[in-house]
Amino acid sequence: MLHNTKTSKLGSVAKIGTNLTYQAFQQGKNYFSLAHNLSALLLRLTTSPFELKSKRLPLEVIGKIQTRRNQLLETDWQDAERSIYPASLLFDNPWKDFLRYYPMIWLDMPSTWNRAERKQYEDFSPEIDTTGYPDYYRQTFHHQTDGYLSDRSANLYDLQVELLFSGTTDAMRRRILSPLKQGLKAFNSVSPQQIRVLDVACGTGRTIKLTRAALPQASLYGTDLSPAYLRKAEQLLSQNSGELPQLLQANAEELPYQDNYFHAITCVFLLHELPVMARQRVIEQCFRVIQPGGTFIICDSIQVKDSPEMIPAMEYFHDTFHEPYYKHYITDDLVERLEKAGFQNISTQVHFLSKYLIARKASV
Ligand SMILES: C[S@@+](CC[C@H](N)C(=O)[O-])C[C@H]1O[C@@H](n2cnc3c(N)ncnc32)[C@H](O)[C@@H]1O
Repeated sequence: MLHNTKTSKLGSVAKIGTNLTYQAFQQGKNYFSLAHNLSALLLRLTTSPFELKSKRLPLEVIGKIQTRRNQLLETDWQDAERSIYPASLLFDNPWKDFLRYYPMIWLDMPSTWNRAERKQYEDFSPEIDTTGYPDYYRQTFHHQTDGYLSDRSANLYDLQVELLFSGTTDAMRRRILSPLKQGLKAFNSVSPQQIRVLDVACGTGRTIKLTRAALPQASLYGTDLSPAYLRKAEQLLSQNSGELPQLLQANAEELPYQDNYFHAITCVFLLHELPVMARQRVIEQCFRVIQPGGTFIICDSIQVKDSPEMIPAMEYFHDTFHEPYYKHYITDDLVERLEKAGFQNISTQVHFLSKYLIARKASV
């Protein structure tokens, strides 16, 4: 009895310690991102003065962003506590990559600014072959050098989004894991190895890595249009023990899988980068390849309807980065789109700057 009490006290102290370490870890990332973004702005203003297109964010919006960020981190911690994923995932960070590629972010900045100033949205390095991709994809999203089509872009991407979201990108991605595990309960009679989960537009593979930690035995799949991003994903995912996820280059508008194949599908930060027709087609493809009873989880930017108080932040994002379809996205009715495709029982959540739609394909 005494032994049990002692063990549980030790357990509580360890938990408090881990929680404090996580908060300190996130605060460190927050300060680093702030320092980086401020220095970059100062450098740009002094070396190549430009017209600030975006309005400054009102202080009250900055306060709300901070509150939402804290809530996200609290939920992240709670989900680890509930064993949705191991607590070690909270500290997972591609340090080596970050150290290696951080200087390249600075070296890349002048050409990024130049493209932004000149509104050059289709400016790819001459060696990049852009044939065969949809027109809407052949763009330098976020003013990124080479858009999504080079190894250099794939190497810098994770670091760039971390600096944009002050180190919370994985915490936002992890919010798909609780509804994913909940949704998979519909397939309790299927052995864990037979469970198939697809991540559409998997990019550099971060979401698949997080899903692997939460579902160590499931068969994981990923598709993306960018060969360079898939190469990067393969590098990341082959470091994990366990079965390698199957990665395929494919347009999400034409998923190369048979009907009713997956038990669950995730799709993170894709829809806001698609024109409206492609957005609908992707949702319809996901409906086609998901099994009856399966769950589809979208994580993407917040929208005007769920976060009217964040409109200035959405406008800032739109004005600062090249995101040609974002303006339409933020007022798009995604529930209606999901219903049109055939999904049911749609629920939504908001965490920090992301919203989540969780939808079911009816069981037969
Ligand atoms: C903003 S990134 C998100 C990547 C990843 N899901 C993440 O969480 O970081 C958008 C990704 O969508 C991919 N993409 C864009 N349009 C696509 C399409 N039609 N089919 C497949 N992938 C697409 C891009 O190559 C890129 O990797």
